[in-house]
Amino acid sequence: MKILGIETSCDETAAAVVQDGRHVLSNIVYSQIAHHRPYGGVVPEIASRKHVEHLPEVIREAMTKAALPWDALDGIAVTSGPGLASSLLVGLAAAKALALRLKKPLVPINHLEAHIYSAFLGSDGPTPQEAGPFLALIVSGGHTSFVRVDGIGCYQLLGRTVDDAAGEAFDKGANLLQLGYPGGPVIDKSAREGDPAFLAFPRGYVKKLHARIRNLHPRYCVSFSGLKTALLYYLRENPVGSAPGITVPNLAAAYQEAIVDTLVQRARNASESASTLALVGGVSLNRRLREKMSAMAAKRPGMKLLLAAPAFCTDNAAMVAGLAAHKLASAAPLQHAMRMDVDPNMGIGE
Ligand code: KG4
Ligand code: ZN
Repeated sequence: MKILGIETSCDETAAAVVQDGRHVLSNIVYSQIAHHRPYGGVVPEIASRKHVEHLPEVIREAMTKAALPWDALDGIAVTSGPGLASSLLVGLAAAKALALRLKKPLVPINHLEAHIYSAFLGSDGPTPQEAGPFLALIVSGGHTSFVRVDGIGCYQLLGRTVDDAAGEAFDKGANLLQLGYPGGPVIDKSAREGDPAFLAFPRGYVKKLHARIRNLHPRYCVSFSGLKTALLYYLRENPVGSAPGITVPNLAAAYQEAIVDTLVQRARNASESASTLALVGGVSLNRRLREKMSAMAAKRPGMKLLLAAPAFCTDNAAMVAGLAAHKLASAAPLQHAMRMDVDPNMGIGE
């Protein structure tokens, strides 16, 4: 089964062709980072305009790289939510047009479910069936969610952030440290030269039941807005260079450590009854997070840590096309393409 996937939920314009749910024949991503960098974050109007300009060539490139005629496709998959409405609409319009023109089924895909599926792409890892029930930690620019997975389509949200996502915390911290955008990679790099114990920033453990997490458990929830404020206040009193040790690498390392420790502690709580933990999303590229999550998993007898390949951590369309193969193969009836719409607030397992 060969599926063309399209992903335009935020600021990456992506298309990919995946065979049988895991063999990635092509994976093309046009990153818009350079266009958003001057504003220090994603500008929705620019994102959707760039999707319109680049999606056709990105799709053509994905088909050329996969060396397939259009007719060889068994379906078209597209991210229908969550994400920026104006960005999602561009991908959906293109996918509808292709599905109708080629007379192929159109499969709408939940972006969060696709991130979870990214851990199963490629020929080497386990299949979702082999993984059994597991805990997925989705850490990206827009999401930080702990999800129990009992199979494809069977999700239970255990916990999430009550305010900022982990990626957002990296982006805001990097902005305060004047390290540039996006914040995750630059903090990761700078922190390698610094001392994570230089300063103890507050860990974002949620302690009390909160109106925003009514059906969840505080032990599985995180909060990162206080961390950003702590860095802001610290820098007001202690500007970089004002005393020995107050350097960007030391502050980056200490700030990163607070995010990483919070995620690892919460993942430990949430994975108590699971034997596999999948770490997915853009923030899962973070070196320190991978190190500390691996160390935590190693201390648990029988616990396996599943990491997506780096190319599939940040937003991509291979995870969309791969997951769609399972949706197409299942008995669930597909909606007619023309009736599909985007859902910017789509959740998972709630
Ligand atoms: O999954 P993704 O591409 O987009 C969303 O669905 O949001 O994740 C993007 C996020 C950004 O916030 C970026 O700063 C973060 O992933 N990121 C990292 C690293 N590389 C990307 N965060 C920490 N360390 C990294 N090495
Ligand atoms: Zn994403």
